[in-house]
Amino acid sequence: SGPQCIAIDGPAGSGKSTVGEQLARQLGYLYVDTGAMYRAVAWLALHEDVDINDGPALGELVQRADIVINHPHVEDGRQYTVLVNGRDVTWDIREADVTRSVSAVSSHPEVRKVLIAQQQEMARQGKVVMVGRDIGAVVLPDAELKIYLTASLAERARRRHAELVERAGGNEKNVSSVEELTSDIERRDAIDHDNMQPAIDAIVIETDYLTVPQVLSTIAPYVEDTV
Ligand code: C5P
Repeated sequence: SGPQCIAIDGPAGSGKSTVGEQLARQLGYLYVDTGAMYRAVAWLALHEDVDINDGPALGELVQRADIVINHPHVEDGRQYTVLVNGRDVTWDIREADVTRSVSAVSSHPEVRKVLIAQQQEMARQGKVVMVGRDIGAVVLPDAELKIYLTASLAERARRRHAELVERAGGNEKNVSSVEELTSDIERRDAIDHDNMQPAIDAIVIETDYLTVPQVLSTIAPYVEDTV
């Protein structure tokens, strides 16, 4: 028993990747971060000089792209490895240029159609925690458990900053300021808005004052209750 598919949605900085990855690890489920797939397409568009406003061209790009997300966890703090046409772009897809372009890239139906089909295929294996923006509402409407994580803009920017500082080895110098990150996230929220669909049957958790273990213990009874 227990759910086969768990959908976790939420905006940037809501904690969905951290929570999703840890929940998947606890349950022994596959963890799929769909944001990484959209980021991989954005990276490829920048790399191959494809206009991020050209939906048909991006649709063609994503159809001939070979995007692979490899599990399980490897060293150096990564949750998975992302390969685009055989090249390891795990860290490249986190760079600021990709982050700035990804919302435009993912706004095109031609791109979404292809990635959503791939995501549904990944979930067909069963036992998956899938994280994104539209998983509960669009990708896996039949998921047995749907979680929607939220947090205030200020808290999300603060978390993103802390994450970047940690990745930079504690050195704040090369990291965008909280103010810059706030406006980046705000801009992304606005473009993502249309594809950001909380499912009506999702459990909504406001995470501003919760630690990751507290979010996980909030979710735990729902996991147990789901048959
Ligand atoms: O989750 P993350 O911030 O890495 O996602 C990057 C971008 O990918 C989002 O800002 C959004 O534009 C897009 N995305 C999406 N649908 C998803 C997951 C991500 O449109 N299911």
